[in-house]
Amino acid sequence: LIKQDLTGQHWVITAGPTMEAIDPVRYISNHSSGKMGYALASAAMARGATVTLISGPVQITAPAGANMIAVKSADDMLAACQQSMATPADVFIGAAAVADFKMKTANDQKMKKQSDTDEVTLTLVKNPDIIATLAEQKRAKIIIGFAAETQNVMEYAKGKLARKGLDMIIANDVSRSDIGFNQDENQVTVITKESIWSPDKAAKHELAIQLVECIHQHAVSRRH
Ligand code: C5P
Repeated sequence: LIKQDLTGQHWVITAGPTMEAIDPVRYISNHSSGKMGYALASAAMARGATVTLISGPVQITAPAGANMIAVKSADDMLAACQQSMATPADVFIGAAAVADFKMKTANDQKMKKQSDTDEVTLTLVKNPDIIATLAEQKRAKIIIGFAAETQNVMEYAKGKLARKGLDMIIANDVSRSDIGFNQDENQVTVITKESIWSPDKAAKHELAIQLVECIHQHAVSRRH
């Protein structure tokens, strides 16, 4: 039996990649599987939380009982987050791999091959930083981000914690092929302003249980 100690809490979690349209048939995206975010949603629901899972396009099954919101672009994901947290949530976890850039202007017709040139230039502009916007707007009591890095993991993660105004950042090294993107296992380091914790490498659903406990403890200690 699992203690239902998150009953009455609303957790909002983003997961998966975003998909940015180039034209009606093409897009820019990434290899995020959504597994970590979906596992966190399941683990929070198992303890009684109400979970809204805002997900980019993924190949995995939605956890039973979650309020699912399917989105494609980062703009859509931000709008869905703001709508879900019109009343501030208890916890927001940004596990989505948001595309950094989108088309400055997506084409409304399929782009045609130009027979006279071997090059094409797409003009991209920065996507909104979803988590930084939500932190700024205080949409949740506790805001947790992920940092997938291939080098200087700790240094970059700490930078993101401060710059984005987060309470906690969960960092992992995606240059390792045995963990992270598309894998069933993950090894992370949890960083807050006061503490650093590196749980052992574990299956994403096992790790999710530990992370939910860690997030809950952080929230409890903040309330005192
Ligand atoms: O991509 P980056 O390393 O900056 O991601 C760190 C955190 O910020 C992640 O939690 C990610 O979900 C979030 N993020 C976001 N909006 C972006 C880029 C990242 O919410 N445009």
